[in-house]
Amino acid sequence: MSEAKQLNVGLVGAGVVGGGVVKHLSRNAELIAERLGVRINLKWVCDKDESRLKSLPIPASQKTGDAQKVLQDPDTHVVVELVGGTGFAKTLILDAFNRGKVVVTANKALLAHHGEEIFEAAAKNSTNIFYEASVCGGIPIIKALREGFVANRFPLIYGIVNGTCNYILTRMTAEGKDFNDVLAEAQKLGYAEADPSLDVDGGDSAHKATILASLAHGFWTGFDNTYVEGIRHVSQFDIQIARELGYTVKLLAVIKSADDSDSAPVEVRVHPTLIPHKHVLASVNGVFNGVVVRGDVVGDTMFYGRGAGADATASAVISDLADAALNLKFGSKQRVPSFVSHRLNARVRTIDDVESRYYLRLTVADRSGVIAKVSKVLADSDISISSVLQREAPETKPSQLPTDHVPLIFMLHTAKDRAVRNAVAEIDRLDVVKDKTVVIRVENFE
Ligand SMILES: NC(=O)c1ccc[n+]([C@@H]2O[C@H](COP(=O)([O-])OP(=O)(O)OC[C@H]3O[C@@H](n4cnc5c(N)ncnc54)[C@H](OP(=O)(O)O)[C@@H]3O)[C@@H](O)[C@H]2O)c1
Repeated sequence: MSEAKQLNVGLVGAGVVGGGVVKHLSRNAELIAERLGVRINLKWVCDKDESRLKSLPIPASQKTGDAQKVLQDPDTHVVVELVGGTGFAKTLILDAFNRGKVVVTANKALLAHHGEEIFEAAAKNSTNIFYEASVCGGIPIIKALREGFVANRFPLIYGIVNGTCNYILTRMTAEGKDFNDVLAEAQKLGYAEADPSLDVDGGDSAHKATILASLAHGFWTGFDNTYVEGIRHVSQFDIQIARELGYTVKLLAVIKSADDSDSAPVEVRVHPTLIPHKHVLASVNGVFNGVVVRGDVVGDTMFYGRGAGADATASAVISDLADAALNLKFGSKQRVPSFVSHRLNARVRTIDDVESRYYLRLTVADRSGVIAKVSKVLADSDISISSVLQREAPETKPSQLPTDHVPLIFMLHTAKDRAVRNAVAEIDRLDVVKDKTVVIRVENFE
């Protein structure tokens, strides 16, 4: 191969993802160079925990514990930030921009919280930031939205974007186990962190939803405008009832645009959702991610793959390095813009105004007249019921359900979130209702 150019890379953070990037860049160096016509040269690998560097297959002179060495090297074209967090990582990225370097990152938390500022800083310094690995690990969803679907508006994007939650819900569904038991096993197997809150409370999915929504809709939607509910309150009982009704429970990120006008509000939400068994996402199981992108030109498309892990995430990081390498080869630093803000009048629709179908599971006194009382509250709020399910002696009861109480399930037609929330608050004040009502949204994606 005639080697015209070489892209010099400084990687900071040689943990799970960084280790994967070093491994695969070394293993497939020739193949990648042949495909791109540019060699990706790992000039520096930095980690403050220098023990992580020992086993890496690069010369000792290219290993360092000091990120300043990477930044100050004028020959480093790209800084790969794989440190994580929103502190040092942000300083590192802004410093790299100031020095005119390109940045590659997998840091969804940083982008979700500070993306607007970071993209502005990249543009101000006439450089670029690539972030394929920040959403859905190995799935090339960022490139698809930005380049493959450039002809499209996106009325709807929805999917499973957190492998830990999907693993937990899959096992709860398949094995009839409770949330806490599956979580403990997931932690033992390394599928969940010791502190699982970022995953199970929906924050990680919300980070990804914020990035996808902003990219797809051409304005910075902002993390604080993303509605988030996690999976801690999803019980084994609700999973079983959902199954009887023809549904599977998944934690979904949903990004929906009201219409295709420039000022159309966009919904950005993450919550447990009942989806029909027959829907393709119901078969996305275990740690896998699956995202459906509906484009107004292309129609429905589906992306499936590993959303995390050293290898899948390294694949995405290296694809970003390939873009940076091609930019270097053709002298076009910003051929692919990081993020373009073009819808100045757009806004995010608040959850109050979001419309959905709903599953309500009430815990009520086992006596006559209860359904009528609850139905009246719903009717007074203009919410229509699609079906009611009452079982005299359910096989599995929600935990600690007293014997004189029974579960009562209402499936609702489409209603506004605010109306449902207010009605449920009123229902929970009825003397026949014994516990807080469980509310789960239902989506059919028609
Ligand atoms: N893991 C995944 O599957 C995955 C998937 C998609 C995206 N991501 C994202 O990728 C990023 C990295 O995740 P990871 O799982 O690889 O994390 P990780 O295993 O914790 O690796 C981060 C490494 O950076 C080091 N570090 C921290 N501060 C540093 C500093 N100031 N200078 C040099 N090194 C420093 C850490 O050292 P210490 O341990 O000593 O702090 C650690 O070795 C995160 O933004 C994460 O959200 C991860």
